Amino acid sequence: MTLSSSISPIRWEQDRLILLDQRYLPDLFEDSVCTTLEHARQSIADLVVRGAPAIGITAAYAVYLGYMQSRQDSHYDLASALDSLAQARPTAVNLAWAVQQQKAILQSSVSDPVETGRLLLENAKRIHHKDITDNQAMGDYGAGLIEPGSRVVTHCNAGALATGGYGTALGVIRSAWGKGNLEKVYASETRPWLQGLRLTAWELAHDGIAVNVITEGAVSSLFSQQHIQWVIVGADRICANGDVINKVGTCNLAIMARHYGVSVMVAAPLSTVDAATESGDLVAIEQRAEGEILGDYYRAEKRVHAWNPVFDVTPAELVTAIVTEKGVILQPDKLKIGAHIQLKQA
Ligand code: MRU
Repeated sequence: MTLSSSISPIRWEQDRLILLDQRYLPDLFEDSVCTTLEHARQSIADLVVRGAPAIGITAAYAVYLGYMQSRQDSHYDLASALDSLAQARPTAVNLAWAVQQQKAILQSSVSDPVETGRLLLENAKRIHHKDITDNQAMGDYGAGLIEPGSRVVTHCNAGALATGGYGTALGVIRSAWGKGNLEKVYASETRPWLQGLRLTAWELAHDGIAVNVITEGAVSSLFSQQHIQWVIVGADRICANGDVINKVGTCNLAIMARHYGVSVMVAAPLSTVDAATESGDLVAIEQRAEGEILGDYYRAEKRVHAWNPVFDVTPAELVTAIVTEKGVILQPDKLKIGAHIQLKQA
């Protein structure tokens, strides 16, 4: 059984892309309306919309907006706009994946511009809706691994807000909760943007799922004092060998999980699997501004700096299971990932 979540971070209404601005949740619920590719690109860069699948969906609509701009303005440089869109956040592979999908339509032999526009919009809507149904399938597969009475920890926000809807890691949690198998959910607050505190805790509470927020520093205490069965997270990219790139702090969780005998589940759609990249050390990890960590404390003090990588690499050997819309890969490695992605064609 799955719980339905009515949270929709991305809407397409009257030829406009409407994003729920996630920067101020849960205090403020405001929409950001994008009518140009540039506005959508900036929204991705500024974390108005975030989470790998949600970024990919936004980019797919953005390509359509850019194409329509190029039809109205013959000087509009669509090729450069697409390159800069694909770079708006470099680590989440869904972004490049979605832009590539749309580019394939642009490069196809369709010569009628009206038809090209229709195909681009239709494809963006298809990517959007497929993401939701994939998440529900993933939720059921992942929930199948969770025993009754389980306690789980999640990190960052891999929920409805990070996707087309329902969520990847939170999709699994929603489905497991729906089956009555979860006793407790812990969400780590996720410095510095507090996605765990602001987004995950809000989403779970919204769906009636009890949640306890913890600081990242409390994880080893939690593992040693509570009986935790699973860490359940999403991913921004899964490499060919099963290495997982996700919100910084995920690898810390996985290392501690190994020490305390806790299993680690990564839930992500096949669009997050990057078979072209062999291993995690080859992935560009996004670095964001130091002000995100320092806040206003050191504006005048030039001797204090911050190092702000926003993702980390969890080696495949620390992952118990990867769950996609096609099923479960236990103890992932290159061979198993390769066989699993063949299912994509099936
Ligand atoms: O910086 P963010 O908020 O975009 O980071 C999001 C994450 O790391 C998520 O865990 C990941 O994108 C998976 S979302 C289903």
